[in-house]
This record gives sequence, C-alpha cells and structure tokens, in this order.
Amino acid sequence: MNQFQGRLGRRYVAVIVFVCVCLFLWRGLDFATPIGDSYSATSGGTTSTSPKTVDSFKYIPSTDDWSKAQVFYPVEDMMSPPSGTPKRLPRVQAHSSSSILADDVSAKRKQAVKAKFVKSWEAYKTHAWTKDELQPLSGKGKQSISGWSAQLVDAMDTLWIMDLKDEFRRAVKEVAIIDWSKTGDPKINLFEVTIRYLGGLLAAYELSQEPALLAKATELGDALYATFDTPNRLPSHWLYYEAARKGEQQADTSMSGAAGGSLCLEFTRLSQITGDPKYYDATERIKKFFFRVQNETKIPGLWPHDMNYREETADDSRFNLGAGMDSMYEYLPKMHALLGGLDPEYETMVTTALDAARDNILFRPMTPNEDDILMAGSVTINDGKATMMPEMEHLTCFVGGMYGLAGKLLSRDDYVDLGSRLTNGCVWAYNAFETNIMPENSQLVACDSIDSPCEYDSDKLDKARTKTPPLPDGFVRVRDSRYMLRPEAIESVFYMWRITGDHTWRDAAWRMWEGIVRETETELAFASIEDVRVRASSKADSMETFWMGETLKYFYLIFDDESNINLDEWVFNTEAHPLRRPT
Ligand SMILES: *[C@@H]1O[C@H](CO)[C@@H](O)[C@H](O)[C@H]1NC(C)=O
Repeated sequence: MNQFQGRLGRRYVAVIVFVCVCLFLWRGLDFATPIGDSYSATSGGTTSTSPKTVDSFKYIPSTDDWSKAQVFYPVEDMMSPPSGTPKRLPRVQAHSSSSILADDVSAKRKQAVKAKFVKSWEAYKTHAWTKDELQPLSGKGKQSISGWSAQLVDAMDTLWIMDLKDEFRRAVKEVAIIDWSKTGDPKINLFEVTIRYLGGLLAAYELSQEPALLAKATELGDALYATFDTPNRLPSHWLYYEAARKGEQQADTSMSGAAGGSLCLEFTRLSQITGDPKYYDATERIKKFFFRVQNETKIPGLWPHDMNYREETADDSRFNLGAGMDSMYEYLPKMHALLGGLDPEYETMVTTALDAARDNILFRPMTPNEDDILMAGSVTINDGKATMMPEMEHLTCFVGGMYGLAGKLLSRDDYVDLGSRLTNGCVWAYNAFETNIMPENSQLVACDSIDSPCEYDSDKLDKARTKTPPLPDGFVRVRDSRYMLRPEAIESVFYMWRITGDHTWRDAAWRMWEGIVRETETELAFASIEDVRVRASSKADSMETFWMGETLKYFYLIFDDESNINLDEWVFNTEAHPLRRPT
C-alpha cells in the first residue's frame, strides 16, 4: 500500500472510529443486553427460555482515551490484514458434533468439572471479587496483573461456555466500568495484559456480542498500541504510560520470543472486528522481523530465546519451545487459521519451524516400557556445537497440540503423528507419578533418535542420576517439583481428542483430572502444590487466573459435545480465549 492510500485508509478509519465513539456515548448510558437469561450454577446448564428482566450495563469509558494520544513515530505505510476471500482450510475436528447417542460417562464428567469451576468462581466472588487473583489458602485477594480484575476478565468466556449466563452478566457489569488508566503498578506487562485481558474481552465479546465488551477491548487495545510508538515501531516488554506520553519509548534490546510473538492473534482480531488496521499493523511488523531472521539464527528455522527488537537481530544461543518461547511458535499456525490462509508467510514459518524443531529439539525419552513417546527439550549452541538438555517442562506440553493443529491445517499427517506422540509424552509423565501429576520441570535420558526403538538401560539411568531420591523410572531428576494448576498438558489432550475423536484421550484426561482434584483442592478452591512426588503435598497460597481461564475450560470441553467451540470455527489464543475464524 502506498502512502496516499495509507492516508486515505486512515481517514476512512477515523470516520468509522468517530461513528463508533458516538454510538458508544449514545448507547453507553444504558446498554441493553442482548444476552439471554439462563441461569444454572449447580444443576448443570438447564436453560430457561422465557426472557426475564433485561439488565443494563452502565459503560464508563476510561479516564484517558489513548486513541487520541499524540503519536511520536507515526506509521507511514499502514498495513491491513490480507484482503480477499478466506481459503477453506482442511478440517481440524474429526466430528463437528457428538455422533454417539447420549454418553452418560462424559456427561457426568463434564458436570464434575463444572462443579469445581463453580466452587472456584464462588470463592473468588466471596473473597476476592474484582481483585486480580484469589489466594486459595488465606482467602485473600491479590493484585498481580495491573489490578484490573484479571481473574474476572480471564474467566468470563468460561462462564459463557459452561452456560453460567447470569454469572457472565455479573462479570460484564464490572468489566464495563474498568478504567485502564488506573493501575496500581506503573509497569504494564504488554504480553500478560494482551493474552489475559485483551484476549478475554475479545472472546467474551465474540460469544455474547455485548457491545460494552468490545468498547473495553478497543480502549485497552488503544492503550497497548502506545507500546509500539518507538523509533522502529517494535515494542518493549513493559509499557509505562508516562514514557509513552512523552515519546520516550524504545524497543527492547533483549526480549523473549513469546513476549513479542504472542500478541498477533489478539491485535489482528481487534483489527478484523473494528475495521481499524492499526493493531494488525503493529504486530505485523514483529512478524516481518521474525520472518526475515528465521533462517539466519544459530539453528536455522528456530528463533533463539532472547532477541534484540531494537536492532532487529537474533544472535542468542539458547533454543527451546517452553518458557519464553512457547506461544510465539503456537501463534504461527493459529495466525494461518485466523487469516484464512491468506498470508503465505505464515505457512512458510510454520513448516520451517516445526521441521527444525523436530530435527533439533524433540527427543524420545528412555522409558522402562520403551514407549513411543516424545518430549521437547532445550538446546544451547557453543562454538557452533549443539548441546541438548533432555528436560521436560510442563509449559512445553502445549507442543503436542500445536503439531496436531498445524498438521490438520496444513495437511501434514507427519505433524499430526508427532503431535500424538508428544501429547502421549505428557500423558505418560502424568501417569508416572503417584499423584498422577507431572512436575514443573524434570530431566530424562534422551534416546539416540526419535524414530528408532530405544532399549531401557537402567545402568545408564543410574549413572545419570546424581542422587537417588525416590523417582519414577525414566526420570533422572526433578528440577522443579511444583504443579501450578497449569493447562498445557490437558490443552494438548483436548486438541488430540478433537482432532482424532479417539476416546482414549478422554480417558487420559479423566485420570489427570482425578489426580489434580485430589491433590490441589482446598476448602475454598484449588491451590498450587509444592511437590508432585508425594501425596497430599504442602500447598502454596496461589491460584493463577489460568486455572479458571484455561485449565478448567479445556477439561470441560473435552467432556462436552464437540460443537462447543468447534476448532473449525474458532481459534484459541494462548490463554484459551476463543476467537472466531473467518468463513
Ligand atoms: C527459510 O528456509 C526455508 C527452507 O528451509 C524456506 O522455505 C523459506 O522460504 C526460508 N525463509 C526465508 C525468509 O527465506
């Protein structure tokens, strides 16, 4: 697009934005809700069809309107999401709806998950309402992500998905008056705020069509967009409103791949919904940087952990798919889906990265039963020599789902197969511990190849073990024994279930569920545990927002009908917030 068209585009957008603002001001005094009135917190989703009183949401705009803020480094060549008819991508799900007649076991399991969600939600309401997190032991509220009611925003779409619509409305009422200008902490975490708040708002809006939610998402998007007002238009990890107001921001010289690479789904969807291309433009510039350097790194095809967003270089020597990198890779096939396959660069990036990860990062662990499973380790390059650490981070358990989804979208059966073996790696690790839960980080012994059988050699294992604590066979060491209510393993099981329709995935999910409930439940809600190696471990006073935003949602959806958030119509952001795919 040339500059002239860019300016025309901006003027057109300005008119749309102006009309929207007028509409909000007019309707903002009394938002009539289009949401149906169905309530059931405990009986499990009975829907009353007769409309009752219609609530109204009082929408109050934030103190500052960042869409009007001065821009110090204006964009000269605004990019828009690719235009054209979205391609019909290959089907992801095995079934679009449950073909089997009423399945009692799954229905009961679904209700069991919902009951635990309701317990967590009620505790949050009673003890920590509008705080960022509930502390499940002390029953206190905690501010951890800017103090804008993170848990509430993060759990809103789960309320909708579980058919808790009255509770959903209760949440919208609070969200419609959030003031993004009021923050307890001057440092705003661009990544966390994007995936939890912006993603949560967009998904809740897409499900309910409630205008106040889009208004709040747009306000927040405008504030976060200020992070991109830097000389090269790439962002920093932290947004400080004060620095943004003075035009004093610069892109970071050392920032993780995930921090920059997991914004594009949310920003692109906001552009698609509002028609304002600026959010897409912001994250597309990050993608252009990633695309350009992908084959020039120390492991061509993969991106290193830390990158220099200011100089736009990627010379770091550490490579992994877990902490700091996970959702950057995850978003590549998901962007392919969200853009309806219209940007061929994403397809290139996906296949190049997933091939390189297969050849460099994935390993087969040596296990007593010589299971055909895979895990994702980490690699460091020293003087051109690669050293693989056969570690298993809970965070990397999303990788199976990613290979599965990419394999379906790109018709790569080999990726679906890798996805299945990777997910089975996490299922195996959950089963290996007495608690039925895998630890945050552990170390195993890597076989020579991911594709050939691998004989179990207990001498080799003993030699690798530094001490001899009571560990399950196959594990060299547990480097971090906690379980923090994380979703990644159940997330991949969810993908494999939806992709294959194979009920063994549902059974695997139920075993995980029983372990997690038994070990983490508290009087009030659920808590992180310190040591998955022992039954009834001591707990930490922490329940991160992803417990209700992600973990419980994936468990619920596994036992629900496959039509609820069908993966051929929706794509999840990295916080399990569903965004609509184009049709
Ligand atoms: C990177 O390499 C892959 C093949 O290994 C190729 O398909 C792709 O186009 C390359 N990317 C760039 C930006 O040149």
